[in-house]
Amino acid sequence: NEIKIFSPATVANVACGFDVLGFCLDNVGDDMIIRKTNKKGIHITKIEGYDLPYEAELNVAGVSALAMYAAIDVDFGFEIEIYKNIKPGSGIGSSAASAVGSVFGMNELLGKPFNKTQLTEFAIKGEALASKCEHADNLAPALFGGFTLVKSISPLQILEIPSPDDLYATIIHPQIEIKTSESRAILPKEVPLGHAIEQWANLGSLVHALHTSDYKLISNSLNDVVVEPHRSQLIPKFSLVKEAALIHGALGAGISGSGPSIFSLCKGLEAANKVREAMQNVYSKTDIAFDIHVSKIN
Ligand code: HSE
Repeated sequence: NEIKIFSPATVANVACGFDVLGFCLDNVGDDMIIRKTNKKGIHITKIEGYDLPYEAELNVAGVSALAMYAAIDVDFGFEIEIYKNIKPGSGIGSSAASAVGSVFGMNELLGKPFNKTQLTEFAIKGEALASKCEHADNLAPALFGGFTLVKSISPLQILEIPSPDDLYATIIHPQIEIKTSESRAILPKEVPLGHAIEQWANLGSLVHALHTSDYKLISNSLNDVVVEPHRSQLIPKFSLVKEAALIHGALGAGISGSGPSIFSLCKGLEAANKVREAMQNVYSKTDIAFDIHVSKIN
């Protein structure tokens, strides 16, 4: 009658794949409890960690749960408890974790009537509440794990992309909040053709490199000429952190989702830990508070 779940944090965009590519972190995320209740409807009964609305219609987890609830015909309801560890506005898929957690848990309690793509469809409604736009590049990796590519939103088509065995991510999160809706608003609506060509060459190459475990090609493909030049201005010391990661052996680095978190990819745990130290050294010399994680990409 109740299920406790871990809903993972995710890194969207991965430099060259704005709004389509993402990967899942294996050790950072929210805990949630979903419970069947006699009272019909969706009821958020507990929120710990951050101050978020209890009204289901105003809460990301609630909105995705309501979308799923409208698609089923049952004489009971669901209670949702949210133990939020991922800070909203941190750039590692906080809203996606909430949106995915409620529908994943409800689906389990219902005997899994929906597949993961259908769950993503419900979760998109919750995600849209936070970012004012329907995108699934955090939702898909949170539900499917590993790397995913969102081929299209309508109809929703998600591709699972393999991860090389030895691929690790280091994520540093300076403690400032950047709202996804705001960091989307600063992006130009048009992309010069030359930049578009470079970006899709990089994205195609990165996907190929992930399939073939070609670390050198991963490294050569992790570039973002479309979004990073604009958003990086919102992130304190972005260039220094990125440079520190690259100098100390990262395959590549960039903005995690809509920021302010910065990710880097590394071959092997030892390299990832070295890069972790280099990235954190940049913020340690300032008064910017931060947290940092190393995670294997499975
Ligand atoms: N692709 C989205 C963006 C992810 O960069 O705006 C943020 O959640």
